[in-house]
Amino acid sequence: MRLHVVDHPLVAHKLSTLRDERTDSPTFRRLTDELVTLLAYEATRDVRTEPVDITTPVAVTEGIRLSYPRPLVVPILRAGLGMLDGMTRLLPTAEVGFLGMVRNEETLEASTYATRMPDDLSGRQVYVLDPMLATGGTLVAAVRMLLERGATDVTAVVLLAAPEGVALMEKELAGTPVTVVTAALDQRLNEHGYIVPGLGDAGDRLYGTA
Ligand code: URA
Repeated sequence: MRLHVVDHPLVAHKLSTLRDERTDSPTFRRLTDELVTLLAYEATRDVRTEPVDITTPVAVTEGIRLSYPRPLVVPILRAGLGMLDGMTRLLPTAEVGFLGMVRNEETLEASTYATRMPDDLSGRQVYVLDPMLATGGTLVAAVRMLLERGATDVTAVVLLAAPEGVALMEKELAGTPVTVVTAALDQRLNEHGYIVPGLGDAGDRLYGTA
Protein backbone atom coordinates (compact mmCIF):
# COMPACT_ATOMS: atom_id res chain seq x y z
CA MET A 1 0.00 0.00 0.00
CA ARG A 2 1.30 3.45 -0.92
CA LEU A 3 0.26 6.66 0.85
CA HIS A 4 0.38 9.96 -0.99
CA VAL A 5 -0.37 13.13 0.98
CA VAL A 6 -0.91 15.92 -1.54
CA ASP A 7 1.12 18.88 -0.38
CA HIS A 8 -0.18 22.00 -2.16
CA PRO A 9 -1.30 25.39 -0.85
CA LEU A 10 -4.62 25.28 -2.74
CA VAL A 11 -5.40 21.89 -1.23
CA ALA A 12 -4.50 23.12 2.27
CA HIS A 13 -6.57 26.27 1.79
CA LYS A 14 -9.70 24.45 0.69
CA LEU A 15 -9.28 21.81 3.38
CA SER A 16 -8.98 24.48 6.08
CA THR A 17 -12.34 25.95 5.06
CA LEU A 18 -13.90 22.46 4.96
CA ARG A 19 -12.72 21.85 8.51
CA ASP A 20 -14.28 25.09 9.80
CA GLU A 21 -17.51 24.26 11.64
CA ARG A 22 -19.07 27.49 10.32
CA THR A 23 -18.85 26.30 6.69
CA ASP A 24 -22.40 25.65 5.47
CA SER A 25 -23.49 22.65 3.38
CA PRO A 26 -23.57 24.35 -0.04
CA THR A 27 -20.05 25.69 0.52
CA PHE A 28 -18.91 22.33 1.91
CA ARG A 29 -20.20 20.55 -1.22
CA ARG A 30 -18.54 23.02 -3.57
CA LEU A 31 -15.20 22.87 -1.76
CA THR A 32 -15.30 19.07 -1.63
CA ASP A 33 -15.86 19.06 -5.37
CA GLU A 34 -12.95 21.43 -5.97
CA LEU A 35 -10.65 19.57 -3.59
CA VAL A 36 -11.40 16.21 -5.21
CA THR A 37 -10.49 17.65 -8.61
CA LEU A 38 -7.10 18.67 -7.22
CA LEU A 39 -6.62 15.24 -5.59
CA ALA A 40 -7.75 13.55 -8.80
CA TYR A 41 -4.92 15.27 -10.65
CA GLU A 42 -2.43 13.44 -8.41
CA ALA A 43 -4.45 10.22 -8.14
CA THR A 44 -4.54 9.77 -11.92
CA ARG A 45 -0.80 10.24 -12.47
CA ASP A 46 -0.53 6.59 -13.59
CA VAL A 47 -3.82 6.34 -15.47
CA ARG A 48 -3.41 4.28 -18.62
CA THR A 49 -3.05 6.11 -21.90
CA GLU A 50 -2.27 5.28 -25.50
CA PRO A 51 -0.67 7.31 -28.27
CA VAL A 52 -2.88 8.97 -30.84
CA ASP A 53 -2.12 11.05 -33.94
CA ILE A 54 -3.44 14.61 -33.72
CA THR A 55 -3.69 17.09 -36.56
CA THR A 56 -3.22 20.62 -35.30
CA PRO A 57 -3.94 23.60 -37.60
CA VAL A 58 -0.20 23.52 -38.32
CA ALA A 59 1.06 19.92 -38.32
CA VAL A 60 0.44 16.30 -37.44
CA THR A 61 1.78 15.36 -34.02
CA GLU A 62 1.51 12.55 -31.54
CA GLY A 63 -0.75 13.03 -28.52
CA ILE A 64 -2.22 10.64 -25.97
CA ARG A 65 -5.71 9.67 -24.91
CA LEU A 66 -7.10 7.68 -22.00
CA SER A 67 -7.10 4.04 -23.05
CA TYR A 68 -9.20 0.91 -22.55
CA PRO A 69 -10.26 -0.80 -20.40
CA ARG A 70 -11.94 2.30 -19.05
CA PRO A 71 -11.12 3.32 -15.48
CA LEU A 72 -13.84 2.59 -12.95
CA VAL A 73 -14.78 5.16 -10.32
CA VAL A 74 -16.55 3.79 -7.24
CA PRO A 75 -17.98 6.21 -4.69
CA ILE A 76 -18.81 4.61 -1.35
CA LEU A 77 -22.32 5.69 -0.41
CA ARG A 78 -23.34 7.98 1.07
CA ALA A 79 -20.51 10.47 1.59
CA GLY A 80 -18.39 9.30 -1.37
CA LEU A 81 -21.15 10.53 -3.67
CA GLY A 82 -20.10 14.09 -2.85
CA MET A 83 -16.74 13.31 -4.50
CA LEU A 84 -18.05 11.77 -7.73
CA ASP A 85 -18.39 14.84 -9.97
CA GLY A 86 -14.97 16.18 -9.00
CA MET A 87 -13.40 12.88 -10.02
CA THR A 88 -15.30 12.16 -13.25
CA ARG A 89 -14.70 15.72 -14.46
CA LEU A 90 -11.05 14.78 -14.91
CA LEU A 91 -11.79 11.23 -16.09
CA PRO A 92 -14.49 11.66 -18.72
CA THR A 93 -14.17 8.09 -20.05
CA ALA A 94 -14.65 6.49 -16.62
CA GLU A 95 -17.42 4.04 -15.85
CA VAL A 96 -19.08 4.54 -12.46
CA GLY A 97 -19.92 1.75 -10.01
CA PHE A 98 -21.53 2.11 -6.59
CA LEU A 99 -20.83 0.56 -3.24
CA GLY A 100 -23.17 1.13 -0.31
CA MET A 101 -21.37 0.57 2.98
CA VAL A 102 -22.27 1.61 6.47
CA ARG A 103 -20.30 1.45 9.67
CA ASN A 104 -21.89 0.41 12.92
CA GLU A 105 -21.29 3.44 15.16
CA GLU A 106 -20.79 1.20 18.22
CA THR A 107 -18.57 -1.57 16.86
CA LEU A 108 -17.16 0.62 14.02
CA GLU A 109 -17.45 -2.50 11.78
CA ALA A 110 -18.28 -1.92 8.10
CA SER A 111 -21.00 -3.84 6.27
CA THR A 112 -22.10 -3.72 2.62
CA TYR A 113 -25.77 -3.01 1.81
CA ALA A 114 -25.55 -2.35 -1.94
CA THR A 115 -23.18 -3.23 -4.78
CA ARG A 116 -23.58 -2.03 -8.35
CA MET A 117 -20.48 -2.63 -10.46
CA PRO A 118 -19.15 -5.15 -12.99
CA ASP A 119 -18.44 -8.62 -11.52
CA ASP A 120 -15.27 -8.87 -13.57
CA LEU A 121 -12.78 -6.06 -13.03
CA SER A 122 -9.85 -7.89 -14.65
CA GLY A 123 -7.27 -5.42 -15.86
CA ARG A 124 -9.24 -2.39 -14.63
CA GLN A 125 -7.84 0.61 -12.81
CA VAL A 126 -10.25 1.55 -10.04
CA TYR A 127 -10.62 4.81 -8.11
CA VAL A 128 -12.60 4.41 -4.92
CA LEU A 129 -13.99 7.52 -3.25
CA ASP A 130 -14.63 7.96 0.46
CA PRO A 131 -13.98 11.28 2.19
CA MET A 132 -12.76 9.93 5.54
CA LEU A 133 -10.21 7.17 6.09
CA ALA A 134 -10.94 6.77 9.82
CA THR A 135 -10.65 3.24 11.28
CA GLY A 136 -10.00 1.91 7.78
CA GLY A 137 -12.60 -0.87 8.10
CA THR A 138 -14.77 0.40 5.25
CA LEU A 139 -11.94 1.03 2.81
CA VAL A 140 -10.22 -2.28 3.56
CA ALA A 141 -13.47 -4.14 2.85
CA ALA A 142 -14.12 -2.09 -0.31
CA VAL A 143 -10.60 -2.53 -1.69
CA ARG A 144 -10.65 -6.27 -0.96
CA MET A 145 -13.87 -6.64 -2.94
CA LEU A 146 -12.38 -4.72 -5.89
CA LEU A 147 -9.18 -6.80 -5.86
CA GLU A 148 -11.19 -10.04 -5.57
CA ARG A 149 -13.06 -9.00 -8.73
CA GLY A 150 -9.72 -8.67 -10.53
CA ALA A 151 -8.90 -4.95 -10.37
CA THR A 152 -5.30 -4.38 -11.42
CA ASP A 153 -4.71 -1.38 -9.25
CA VAL A 154 -6.88 0.49 -6.82
CA THR A 155 -6.47 4.11 -5.76
CA ALA A 156 -8.48 5.32 -2.78
CA VAL A 157 -9.10 9.06 -2.91
CA VAL A 158 -9.91 10.46 0.53
CA LEU A 159 -10.07 13.99 1.91
CA LEU A 160 -8.61 13.08 5.29
CA ALA A 161 -6.80 10.08 6.74
CA ALA A 162 -6.15 9.04 10.34
CA PRO A 163 -2.94 7.18 11.22
CA GLU A 164 -5.05 4.29 12.60
CA GLY A 165 -6.80 3.84 9.24
CA VAL A 166 -3.56 4.05 7.30
CA ALA A 167 -2.01 1.45 9.63
CA LEU A 168 -4.95 -0.93 9.16
CA MET A 169 -4.74 -0.60 5.39
CA GLU A 170 -0.98 -1.17 5.47
CA LYS A 171 -1.49 -4.29 7.58
CA GLU A 172 -4.49 -5.78 5.77
CA LEU A 173 -3.49 -4.81 2.24
CA ALA A 174 0.27 -5.33 2.42
CA GLY A 175 1.72 -6.25 -0.95
CA THR A 176 -1.40 -5.27 -2.92
CA PRO A 177 -1.43 -2.66 -5.71
CA VAL A 178 -3.24 -0.05 -3.60
CA THR A 179 -2.55 3.66 -3.24
CA VAL A 180 -4.23 6.11 -0.87
CA VAL A 181 -4.27 9.75 -1.97
CA THR A 182 -5.29 12.22 0.73
CA ALA A 183 -5.28 15.96 1.33
CA ALA A 184 -3.93 15.47 4.89
CA LEU A 185 -2.90 12.92 7.46
CA ASP A 186 -4.51 13.99 10.74
CA GLN A 187 -3.51 13.28 14.36
CA ARG A 188 -5.70 10.42 15.57
CA LEU A 189 -9.19 9.01 16.08
CA ASN A 190 -11.26 9.95 19.10
CA GLU A 191 -13.27 7.46 21.19
CA HIS A 192 -16.22 7.75 18.78
CA GLY A 193 -14.10 6.91 15.75
CA TYR A 194 -14.00 10.51 14.50
CA ILE A 195 -10.84 11.92 12.98
CA VAL A 196 -9.14 14.60 15.14
CA PRO A 197 -9.00 17.46 14.26
CA GLY A 198 -10.95 16.22 11.22
CA LEU A 199 -13.99 17.97 9.85
CA GLY A 200 -16.82 16.18 11.64
CA ASP A 201 -19.25 13.83 9.89
CA ALA A 202 -18.58 14.30 6.20
CA GLY A 203 -21.95 12.88 5.09
CA ASP A 204 -23.89 15.09 7.47
CA ARG A 205 -21.96 18.17 6.41
CA LEU A 206 -22.36 17.39 2.70
CA TYR A 207 -26.06 16.72 2.90
CA GLY A 208 -27.08 19.15 5.58
CA THR A 209 -28.24 16.55 8.08
CA ALA A 210 -26.05 17.82 10.95
N1 URA B 1 -16.54 9.49 9.18
C1 URA B 1 -16.74 10.85 9.17
O1 URA B 1 -17.60 11.36 8.45
N2 URA B 1 -15.97 11.62 9.96
C2 URA B 1 -14.98 11.12 10.75
O2 URA B 1 -14.29 11.88 11.42
C3 URA B 1 -14.80 9.71 10.73
C4 URA B 1 -15.59 8.93 9.94
